[in-house]
Amino acid sequence: MLSIEKYQHVFVEYLEKYSAVKEPETLYSPIQYILNLGGKRLRPVLTLMTSEVFNQDYKKALNAALSIEVFHNFSLIHDDIMDDAPLRRGKATVHEKWDVNTGILSGDAMLIMAYQLFENYDAKTFQALAKLFSKTALEVCEGQQYDVDFETRNDVTIDEYLKMIEYKTAVLVAAAMQMGAIVANASIEDQNNIYQFGKNLGIAFQLQDDYLDAFGDPKTFGKQVGGDIIENKKTYLYIKALEFSNENDKAELKQLFSSNPEDISTKIEVAKQYFESSGSAEVTKIAIEEYTQKAFTVLESINISEEKKALLKAFGNSLMNRTV
Ligand code: IPE
Ligand code: IPE
Ligand code: MG
Ligand code: MG
Ligand code: MG
Repeated sequence: MLSIEKYQHVFVEYLEKYSAVKEPETLYSPIQYILNLGGKRLRPVLTLMTSEVFNQDYKKALNAALSIEVFHNFSLIHDDIMDDAPLRRGKATVHEKWDVNTGILSGDAMLIMAYQLFENYDAKTFQALAKLFSKTALEVCEGQQYDVDFETRNDVTIDEYLKMIEYKTAVLVAAAMQMGAIVANASIEDQNNIYQFGKNLGIAFQLQDDYLDAFGDPKTFGKQVGGDIIENKKTYLYIKALEFSNENDKAELKQLFSSNPEDISTKIEVAKQYFESSGSAEVTKIAIEEYTQKAFTVLESINISEEKKALLKAFGNSLMNRTV
């Protein structure tokens, strides 16, 4: 197996060849822009790693990995429109740099390009990949809709939140890994286990994303810090802060998260103070560790070498400690 950095490197080289601009330029430039903006390449690296975990040459998984990354970047273009986000990976979002219509159509094209990449596989593998992909992509839409619906509710429960992040984020991480296993012809049992590993890691990943959205360093985070607070996102931080607050604070917090004030920096500061003083920032950190540990427990039941498990665990731990 290669190192995580090496998988990243070979993937980015493959991606760069793929993302050349075609005509009409106004459709393809934004696609090239978002695909080459950087990013952690977490999902495609997991696809490549998983194929090798199950004894397949990672090169066979490059198109599946690319499909996942193209889909992920499509979802980011549309997500940034929906979240009214100005920044992505430290640069202007597609709808800011071009306009909303460009973001919609370039995003649509990317969804189709993602499917098209499965044509590089034989019929049986194609079917398995496409089936998993369709199910996953629909779940991502469901998760995204819950996320938006929750903006205007103030009674969202932790269970509802967990289901929402499972759908909008974790299933794609899970599917990225299962696709590596599919390309490697792994048994259904191994496929299911690696999916569960990815799902728990994905939940931890989104919890961490929510945490960083409030507490990340604006110099390195690459997105607008406080964006979730501005948009009244009902995150783990918010729901737990409500749970831990007295009636007075609860009412104020609910009021704060149903407002759209001009002065966003005060709103962000007040919200962050609630998150810290209530203890919700702390329990979010704990939840991130718990879901990472859950993923590691699933890993135990998979019949692979200790060395391979150690590599997957190292990846999980690095995600938990990330600042981007
Ligand atoms: C951002 O994903 C969207 C979430 C699901 C949180 P990443 O944090 O993987 O974004 P990039 O690709 O590394 O920029
Ligand atoms: C994004 O969730 C999930 C998808 C793009 C499907 P977020 O809205 O939290 O992602 P960021 O923070 O903008 O990257
Ligand atoms: Mg967003
Ligand atoms: Mg969003
Ligand atoms: Mg986020």
